[in-house]
Amino acid sequence: MNDYYSAITPKIIAELLGDITIQGVYKALKKAEITISETKTGRKKLLPEDVRKFLELRGFKFPKLNISFQIVKGGVGKTSLSFLLSTRASHYGAKVLIIDLDQQGNITRSFHLKEREFPVMLNIIRDRANIEESIIKLSDSLHLIPSNLNNSKLDIQLTQESINLRDILTDLLRPIRDHYDLVIFDCPPAINKINLAATCCSNLIIIPVNPDPYAMDGLDFTLSELKQIKKDFKLNFDKKIVWNRYDARERLGAIYMHELVKSADKVEDILPIVIRTDASIKSAVFFESDVFNSSKKSSIQEDADQFCREILGLNKWKDNITK
Ligand SMILES: Nc1ncnc2c1ncn2[C@@H]1O[C@H](COP(=O)(O)OP(=O)(O)OP(=O)(O)O)[C@@H](O)[C@H]1O
Ligand SMILES: [Mg+2]
Repeated sequence: MNDYYSAITPKIIAELLGDITIQGVYKALKKAEITISETKTGRKKLLPEDVRKFLELRGFKFPKLNISFQIVKGGVGKTSLSFLLSTRASHYGAKVLIIDLDQQGNITRSFHLKEREFPVMLNIIRDRANIEESIIKLSDSLHLIPSNLNNSKLDIQLTQESINLRDILTDLLRPIRDHYDLVIFDCPPAINKINLAATCCSNLIIIPVNPDPYAMDGLDFTLSELKQIKKDFKLNFDKKIVWNRYDARERLGAIYMHELVKSADKVEDILPIVIRTDASIKSAVFFESDVFNSSKKSSIQEDADQFCREILGLNKWKDNITK
């Protein structure tokens, strides 16, 4: 098991709350009987359950959300952002289940599992593998239902008449849903049945876009598809577009940003943060070096943190308490 949870420090808590010094955080932690441990490099850290306890004592309520990352365009950051959101949310003490629905198994691979054979969604749906037994515990607060090439048969499986695409994932998750705050689906770049099932099971669809013309086409296509699904299945999900690979130096960025505002139904559908281009994201996600544990500050560290706070509602909560 990897140590995915060594990253929330008293300094980060002070910065999140805004109205308290680091010394104030130490005092408040002591009062709450929360002990701070130290990493090998002498960094102070809080365990996720202690971050959770601290935030809840101050009145924060963790949201219950099913989130899917979707856009028909490949390579725009669905997996990278799923990884960053799920690991960071688990640091804050959220209980997170990642469900890898992509036959490429990229998010699964980023956790470098020792097991070679494991049940995937195909086995849960087709062979009735027990969902609870299919979960891999990466840490106490971060769990995974992995994927591999077997999931390429998912869509054929889902064409069976007896399968109710609208409810299948909600029904499958029912026995375990209460164990988690966030269930995060990393979806393949496609308009297919498993993505449709994930949409039907989600309260929030996150759509990453990049500043390039093909990604913008993919966005328009995905948005109109989601609109149709919402209408056909009478669904009630929210959607948030997130600008990934933002580079302030690129002149075209501003042009695409303008396009993006035109494409989105409402400006509120665009998250008020950007994820900047940062080459270290690749090593963070694919070579297991946890981006949040690096003592070197990077843009991806900051942006992923802001992204996670937006989705968990921590920024809104902080704004309300400091008003
Ligand atoms: N903000 C970023 N800065 C730099 N590189 C990035 C950023 N976001 C993603 N990348 C890189 O872009 C590539 C594609 O990202 P990722 O696999 O997350 O996309 P995806 O949408 O999941 O792709 P697919 O549709 O194939 O599943 C990866 O190599 C990743 O490291
Ligand atoms: Mg992916």
